Amino acid sequence: MSKAQMWSKNAEFVNGELHLAGIPASSLARDFGTPAFFLDEDSFKSRAVAWRDGLASEFGANAGHVFYASKAFTCTTVARWISELGLGIDVCTGGELAVAIAGGVKPSTIEVHGNNKSVAEIDRAVSLGVKMIVVDSLYEIDRIAEAARKYGVRQSVLIRLTPGIQAHTHEKISTAHEDVKFGFSIASGAAWVAVEKIAALPELELRGVHCHIGSQIFGSDAFEGATERLLQFMARYRDAYGVQLPELNLGGGYGIAYLPEEITVEPADVLPALGSVIRRVCAKLTLDIPTISIEPGRNIVGPAMFTLYEVGTEKDVVLEDGSIRKYISVDGGMSDNARTGLYQAEYSAVLATRTSSAPLIQSRLVGKHCETGDIIIVDLDFPADVKPGDLIATPATGAYGRSMASNYNHMPRPPVVAVINNRARVIVRRENEADLLALDVDEM
Ligand code: LLP
Repeated sequence: MSKAQMWSKNAEFVNGELHLAGIPASSLARDFGTPAFFLDEDSFKSRAVAWRDGLASEFGANAGHVFYASKAFTCTTVARWISELGLGIDVCTGGELAVAIAGGVKPSTIEVHGNNKSVAEIDRAVSLGVKMIVVDSLYEIDRIAEAARKYGVRQSVLIRLTPGIQAHTHEKISTAHEDVKFGFSIASGAAWVAVEKIAALPELELRGVHCHIGSQIFGSDAFEGATERLLQFMARYRDAYGVQLPELNLGGGYGIAYLPEEITVEPADVLPALGSVIRRVCAKLTLDIPTISIEPGRNIVGPAMFTLYEVGTEKDVVLEDGSIRKYISVDGGMSDNARTGLYQAEYSAVLATRTSSAPLIQSRLVGKHCETGDIIIVDLDFPADVKPGDLIATPATGAYGRSMASNYNHMPRPPVVAVINNRARVIVRRENEADLLALDVDEM
């Protein structure tokens, strides 16, 4: 049986124990503690390279950048890998920009997003010479122009468009229908107002258009629909201004497997479909094929990490219908996995260091926070003999796991440990009590 896609490339079960790149889960837990995120370095890098090469082979001379969406997970080491592999990086705050710079990423490969970039963030981005700023409001157009004037540069910008496409995903991560805070609506005319405003400012160079239709998307229909509308917008620009905008950025959103029966979108599943819609629509509108860029985040890092927890307690609760649900409590929870609570995201879990022949019983995997909603997996069938001290792994937690971790209940955030070829090293250390107290100011 082939391995379920939710596990990273170098994760395997040997005699019932989960191993990552040759290291058993029991050793990882002993050396780095739990809860902890373990990153399959080779898997991360090969996924990044697959998108980079996939874009290049589909679009040839028209391939732009794969900008890794660093909100999914970033730290200086990962930012450095991304730039060494020749990808660009997408940042959406000054903090993410600071990490990219600290990781040695060249500003000429950085793209800046955000629906409410502060004046200071814009100033820093322009002063560094970032490749691209994706414009999201009329106010921002003036603010970027002002910074460009201050530094004596002409800043390249894209306009973020809302193409009015409903992508089929959770409403909180769907972004390209009309009723959202992001971008300029094509349908309402707001996008055209932004075009005219940018065109009137010599400090700004409008390079093209952008959209991001949402996250955790399967199939290519929604991407194709959005692409067609963006190209129509580019044709309208060409008709009005007599020149064509050179760049089209289609954002990220490519889905991944979280459960055994699910599949992960691979570049070859979606890029050829995008290529053919782009060629067809460009031919119809007599547009030159623009430079195509994309921004995958989840798809690169999500499948490359799992979380390891230790079971602390378990208890059987009798439900109204008389059935029993086993609550399995681990040493993390909603502070390292906010996604279950926020998006009703579903995960799977396994015993990481042993097999069990005990019957599977109705269970719920919960954390240690003082809150009923502190649930990692709402419903799972788990071996009835699970007990304190067992290690449990939840795969596919690399995206929006550590990056959305919190200190709720003053829990130290878990470390991220990169593992490759029998070697494991910390790339984000575990927080400690001193970190938790470091911000308190107590002047008597
Ligand atoms: N580009 C833009 C402009 C974005 O807003 C995003 C994600 C991406 C790229 C990357 O999308 P990805 O390839 O990772 O799907 N916290 C949520 C996801 C929020 C996504 C926000 N924007 C979650 O845990 O599902």
